[in-house]
Amino acid sequence: MGKIISVLLISFICVGCMTQQEKTSHHTSFPEMSPLYMFQNTQEMENVDLKVYGKIPEWLQGDFVRNGPGLIRTKTSSIKSWFDGLGKLHAFSINNGRVLYTCKFLRSAAYEKFKTTGEFDFVGFAQEPKTDPFSLIDFLFDVKNEEVTNANVTISKINNHRVAMTEIPLPVEISKSLDTKGPFDYDDDLPKNYSFESAHILEDPQTKAMWNFLIKIGLFETAYQIYSISPHSNSRQLVSSIPVSSISYMHSFSLAGKYFVLVDYPFRAKDPKDIAHGFIKAFSWYQNEPTKIYVINRESGQFWTFYTKPFFSYHHINGFEKDNKIFVDLIAYPDADIIYNVNKYPFIKNPNNKLYRLEIDCLKNQTNVYQVTHEHFEFPRLNDSRIGKEYQYFYAVHIHPNGYGILKYNHFKAKNTTWFREGFYAGEPVYIPHPQAKAEDDGVILTIVNNLKEKTSFLLILDAKELKELARIEAPHFIPFGFHGRFFEEDSPSPYTQRISSFRAGTRGRAR
Ligand SMILES: [Fe+2]
Repeated sequence: MGKIISVLLISFICVGCMTQQEKTSHHTSFPEMSPLYMFQNTQEMENVDLKVYGKIPEWLQGDFVRNGPGLIRTKTSSIKSWFDGLGKLHAFSINNGRVLYTCKFLRSAAYEKFKTTGEFDFVGFAQEPKTDPFSLIDFLFDVKNEEVTNANVTISKINNHRVAMTEIPLPVEISKSLDTKGPFDYDDDLPKNYSFESAHILEDPQTKAMWNFLIKIGLFETAYQIYSISPHSNSRQLVSSIPVSSISYMHSFSLAGKYFVLVDYPFRAKDPKDIAHGFIKAFSWYQNEPTKIYVINRESGQFWTFYTKPFFSYHHINGFEKDNKIFVDLIAYPDADIIYNVNKYPFIKNPNNKLYRLEIDCLKNQTNVYQVTHEHFEFPRLNDSRIGKEYQYFYAVHIHPNGYGILKYNHFKAKNTTWFREGFYAGEPVYIPHPQAKAEDDGVILTIVNNLKEKTSFLLILDAKELKELARIEAPHFIPFGFHGRFFEEDSPSPYTQRISSFRAGTRGRAR
């Protein structure tokens, strides 16, 4: 890798066209989300006993928690982008074959303000505040903000704390019963506010360290900062800082062996300080500019820059090293129109997302990017023990015109496996390994499925090898379409045991 230098592979990309900075954005407005029931459900519940059809594997014990927007519109106020809906968590707690359901809104500052004023009055992905404008001074000088963010994207675990995350620090700690505890404050000097990061923080399966990047926007320097969090630590350690003049909207990244791979798409804010006047409207699509690939050595912090053709992606799938090459798989779009079209989810016409593989030849200093399949899918997940390593399978939402299924993609064989039921719309498939797993796919898939005809939802458990149904657990109401989830294995049984005990003593689950 020491010989790696920056390379320019696409012949039409030249300094001349890079300096033109010609905006070629196609979209700048957000269509309305419709129908409302698919994206909004204000009912909260705790420990509701659910009906189970089929058989839940005996070894599957713990909480499946999924994050996503739960409130987007009132008669007088509306959010612009689905990404800004007020965060709501849904938990299916599995214990000895029984399942209890809890759902609660995140008590964010945006939520509390909504409860008081009835307005969506906050700084979000596309949302701009009606009052209390985003202060450039606060932004540039990192004025500490103690507010709880609308962390509606992912759910993760940092130093044994359950946290909800969005794309700005800080994570929000939640309890096992989905109560909001407050900001998860880091014990370090990295930015804690007015900066941006990925909600898709990753755990290295070998070292158990957490890895992420943040975008620091400063008065004198803007930089992509790569950081790690050691196990049993609340401190982010800066690994590498990459100065940049413009910033890209980057939703996720990859670990690839000893490298951290950041892909900077040509959906960029040329003056990062414009973000003080609204986040996503500061970004434009630059069709004539390359995608930049930053490859960072996770030990030394040294980095190299590569260039390839323009494309956009929300979700990296995984990365790995093999034969002096670095590979990164991601779900790519030809441009960033999906930023706005996401409001049409799950009815996006003519989906144009494809599986791309980035291939960086470290000896020849060459970069290649190519399409791997014609199938359309999103929300990819894999066996987390394969993160950063060569892997055979990933699972994803499989997009059909009349329903969303689950696809198991096999990198080593031509045949993929699918689960599909017409009129049913599955969400992100989360893989949980068998405790004594001997194969990469020895486990189960959990996904929340929406039946749009019946306006009902259920938790679906699939065998991860053949995608055969093992169990369906009926939810007590329609669960709005959401984003990402995680399974928390039963590691601290006392609160759960208490809940089960009270249930068995006759304290029925209650809705509120
Ligand atoms: Fe995501």
